[in-house]
Amino acid sequence: MEEFNEEYWQSRWETGKTGWDIGYASPALVDFAKTFNDEEIKILIPGCGNGYEAEELHKLGYKNTHALDLAPGAFHSLQNRYPDFPEGNMILGDFFEFNGRFDLILEQTFFCAINPNLRRAYAQKMIELLEPGGTLAGLLFDAPLLTDHPPFGGSKEVYRPFFEDLFELKTFERSTKSIPPRAGKELFIQFVKPH
Ligand SMILES: C[S@@+](CC[C@H](N)C(=O)[O-])C[C@H]1O[C@@H](n2cnc3c(N)ncnc32)[C@H](O)[C@@H]1O
Repeated sequence: MEEFNEEYWQSRWETGKTGWDIGYASPALVDFAKTFNDEEIKILIPGCGNGYEAEELHKLGYKNTHALDLAPGAFHSLQNRYPDFPEGNMILGDFFEFNGRFDLILEQTFFCAINPNLRRAYAQKMIELLEPGGTLAGLLFDAPLLTDHPPFGGSKEVYRPFFEDLFELKTFERSTKSIPPRAGKELFIQFVKPH
């Protein structure tokens, strides 16, 4: 299988092949972050793409929101749309090589973008990046999708083994806040790193 590296993603940005982009902040993610009711929490959005959630959360007062992406193209629209987003919170780099500690990590169409043989490494990296008691939350596709390039899909049964020995799987169920075209095809996850 092709390697889904910086070159691959940057070329998708440059050629406008960004069919994943919903054009606004995902309600499932933003609403979940708001339940923390604590603007000080440190949030990471890996594979942030156009960064609508980062923008929205920052505007809501969550000033410790960080957006990470491998491809420089991803950040152009966030910078142009919302110049108030702190430059230092926009991190250009590879998730698997990134270091930091966060209270909340938000997932949307990043897990499906990585090679499926990196799924265990994704779960382990999430553990490394979370504070004890920290949460990985967001949406995973509940559909088979593609086999040779992203988006790669799966189901609860397929995903569970990558996470269950590392996290408390607090919520792992059909999302009730999917955007209409994805309704019935997403799982909402709330996975907590044990203390
Ligand atoms: C399918 S897009 C989703 C973007 C965004 N989450 C959204 O929902 O619109 C996947 C994003 O992950 C980024 N990406 C892929 N592999 C990455 C990695 N190893 N580290 C950081 N970002 C990565 C890509 O550049 C791309 O912007």
